Amino acid sequence: MWDSVWINARLATFDTGAGSDAPASAAGGRRGDAKDLIGAIEPGAIAVAAGRIAWIGPMADLPVGYQRSQALHDAGGRWITPGLIDCHTHLVHGGHRAAEFALRLDGASYEEIAKAGGGILATVTATRGADEDALVAGASARLARLMAEGVTTVEVKSGYGLDTASELKMLRAAGRLAGPGIRVRRSFLGAHAVPPDYADRRDDYVALVVEEMIPAVAAGRLADAVDAFGERIAFTPAQVARVFEAAKTHGLAVKLHADQLSDQGGAALAARFGALSADHLEYADPDGLAAMAAAGTVAVLLPGAYYTLRQSRRPAVDAMRRHGVAMALATDCNPGSSPATSLLLMLNMGCTLFGLTPAEALAGVTVNAARALGLDGECGRLVAGQAADFVLWDIDDPAELAYRIGWNPVHAVVSDGAVREVLEPGGAGPADEPW
Ligand code: NIG
Ligand code: FE
Repeated sequence: MWDSVWINARLATFDTGAGSDAPASAAGGRRGDAKDLIGAIEPGAIAVAAGRIAWIGPMADLPVGYQRSQALHDAGGRWITPGLIDCHTHLVHGGHRAAEFALRLDGASYEEIAKAGGGILATVTATRGADEDALVAGASARLARLMAEGVTTVEVKSGYGLDTASELKMLRAAGRLAGPGIRVRRSFLGAHAVPPDYADRRDDYVALVVEEMIPAVAAGRLADAVDAFGERIAFTPAQVARVFEAAKTHGLAVKLHADQLSDQGGAALAARFGALSADHLEYADPDGLAAMAAAGTVAVLLPGAYYTLRQSRRPAVDAMRRHGVAMALATDCNPGSSPATSLLLMLNMGCTLFGLTPAEALAGVTVNAARALGLDGECGRLVAGQAADFVLWDIDDPAELAYRIGWNPVHAVVSDGAVREVLEPGGAGPADEPW
């Protein structure tokens, strides 16, 4: 018995036929070719059973039984992509840092503000002071924005608690965001900044992370991965390595905020530990990128932070292509470096600021974002067996998702096989009223 069948669709499957181990970036140094990356089936059909994709393929091949389904939905020729995945966020946090925005516009740098006790530590104070319910409420409002744009999976980090109780509180709050329509992956980011009371004994804080926090997170099954911020204003490579070793001991995957503001050898370090992803990478060196390719570590590019901090050095996208590093894109939604709640805007910025092709950008919020979360077998592509997470769009061309600015052409979102949102006919955008 099937739950529903979707016909008359243009499918962007992101199933390139290369097998799940191949990076979904252009091979051989070519810019990603749209057809290679998108894996289009036109016209196509999807059959959904028990929340999974039971069958997908050309409409002409749809088995007769499915054609007689009671729950037959006509997609009206619309494009369908996998549900979008925001694979790097700090959605759970207290307060905001609008005042720092003004300071930076006056010339203060992100690092100067952090050294003066602002930056991440300002949000730590606000987050410690917020109770779990308040954190859930704030994060839910931001998550609603992402979901309205077709996000069906989101990663959420801790890292604004920096003491055991507050870090666990953040992770519990992140867990409460999960529910019908949204899958949540959690990353423990205790090694995000050194709290003020450990300023002169930074290794002691790392010991607290390693000996107390990570075991507590693992025991409570509160996170899927351990993240760290490897940077002059945060943790040294040796300290990050200690954190990663503890993560491995407890069976947790690792990820790294790597080489965002300076070359710390973060890309190579992440690769050495088989990290799911290394994120930011503006200052990553070429050898590190080659190591990432060999390790299958995904590069998560965060144009919202690059833009907000008015950085001038872009991640080496050409070198990533050359080495075959899979590239993902995410909002990095956080109150400091990227107060962004639009993944569609990140598609545009990934193309305009970093030079991705629209197809690469889309692979970055679907198949490659799933890889960055260790969810490649679960979501991010339209293939039989994966979760039935997909979005119907009122667009003529998938590239429109990256090209338009401030436009949300979602027509409907299906998550775990259930229709989450159907906008009023004609209310969703340019398919009905060309402009
Ligand atoms: O991904 N780089 C470090 N962490 C965050 C910023 C957090 C903050 O400024 O509050 C980032 O950019
Ligand atoms: Fe971040």
